[in-house]
Amino acid sequence: MKAKLIKTEHVIDGKEIFAVELTNNQGTYVKIYNYGAIISNFVVKNALGDSQDIVLGFDDFSGYINDDYLAAYPYLGAVIGRYANRIKNGKFNISGKAYQLSQNIGSDTLHGGYIGFDRKVWDILPALGPSLTLQYVSPAGEEGFPGNLTIQLTFKLTAENELILDYKAETNEPTAINLTHHGYFNLATNGGNISNHTHRMPASYYLQQDDNYVVTGVKIPVEGSQYDFLGPKLIGSNWDDQEGYDQTFVLDKEPGELTLASETTEESSGLKLSIYTTEPVAHFYTAKYLAVNNGKKGKNYGPFEAFCVETQHHPNAVNVPEFPTTVLLPGEIYKQTTIYKIEHQ
Ligand code: BGC
Repeated sequence: MKAKLIKTEHVIDGKEIFAVELTNNQGTYVKIYNYGAIISNFVVKNALGDSQDIVLGFDDFSGYINDDYLAAYPYLGAVIGRYANRIKNGKFNISGKAYQLSQNIGSDTLHGGYIGFDRKVWDILPALGPSLTLQYVSPAGEEGFPGNLTIQLTFKLTAENELILDYKAETNEPTAINLTHHGYFNLATNGGNISNHTHRMPASYYLQQDDNYVVTGVKIPVEGSQYDFLGPKLIGSNWDDQEGYDQTFVLDKEPGELTLASETTEESSGLKLSIYTTEPVAHFYTAKYLAVNNGKKGKNYGPFEAFCVETQHHPNAVNVPEFPTTVLLPGEIYKQTTIYKIEHQ
């Protein structure tokens, strides 16, 4: 395993943008920017022996900051914080104090507000070794969140073809935190609609949403519904092909256990992607709103041409006392591990 630092020509907020390449002896190559902790490339050897990139993104860093891309912004490959998914009316109370966040989607907050961690320049911590650690210090009041929050995210590529993401965070005041990574995966050799990928998620419940996709607090059994991914099935086997999936699945596990969140396979490449996490839920999004021009090799990306498995705590948990807490107190350490494992079927 090796890590290599490459300087780009870009400077944002007075800070230089670097790409870091992680490689292993199985021919896997991962490229990460210190802007948004974006994983721009995740190149693996498929079952035919060819190198194949399994994530959507851009060939050049400039793609991530151009106005056309930001206008219909899908968070391609970026880290999400301080708070993944939606918070109802962008409001919450902690220790009797009320907070109002940026309302960047209707009256709600999505993915941390107008400028989340996905558009921040992160510091590259020394001691690259075979891994990369990025750090971002989010000041109190950013997008309305209390507390100075220091987040460290370590990426490690193993000889067993696992890309491990380890998150850690600390605060100096009580705050709310819910981090995830927004990779858009497509395992087919030629990309395209992901309806023919086979997918499994060990989740017996999914979360009810209101008309604005905000989680209400109600858990619904998947049994007998299109949301039943307990056994493997084609993603498109019984979906609404105009909507796809944009739902949160509650993983069957003990709190904090590192377990399988999803397993996805695809025929043309023979690839299998298994995602393991310590988090309690996986938000499964099949990219209904995707509209990106000039992606890698000049390709345009449209709806349903990728899937995201966003491992996290329950969306809006800060307003639902029955859900596992997303409140972080001074002296506590927030921790999350998510692993993307690549194999052949
Ligand atoms: C959300 C979608 C949203 C997408 C991109 C997903 O995590 O659930 O509703 O459109 O991110 O913004």
